[in-house]
Amino acid sequence: MYREDLREWERSAGVECHLTVDRATDGWKGDVGVVGALFKKPGVEVPVDDTVAFVCGPPVMFRFVIRDLLALGLPESRIVSTLERYMKCGVGKCGHCCIGVAYVCVDGPVFTYEQIKKLGEDI
Ligand code: FES
Repeated sequence: MYREDLREWERSAGVECHLTVDRATDGWKGDVGVVGALFKKPGVEVPVDDTVAFVCGPPVMFRFVIRDLLALGLPESRIVSTLERYMKCGVGKCGHCCIGVAYVCVDGPVFTYEQIKKLGEDI
């Protein structure tokens, strides 16, 4: 997915692109394992004071990536994710997406982890 975009990011000045997969296929030369393991990889430095993390992917991954980002010292206000998996109508009519007082479809779907915690969402 997004192979051309990834190649372009890898070639871009000022961008470090680190990739990891759950299971390597033939020909894969990158890392294998969870995203958080990349933070501890030799040569990888996360400039915490100058970083905003955008977390997307399967929901089961969110909890572990966010835990690892918090362990790095990243503030909750600079960890951003999406709760779009709760949406149905997408226009604020059905109520399917309500978490606490928020309508994910009209108030989000992108929230900081700080906001997600206040909603009472357990990710
Ligand atoms: S998805 Fe229907 S109200 Fe948000």
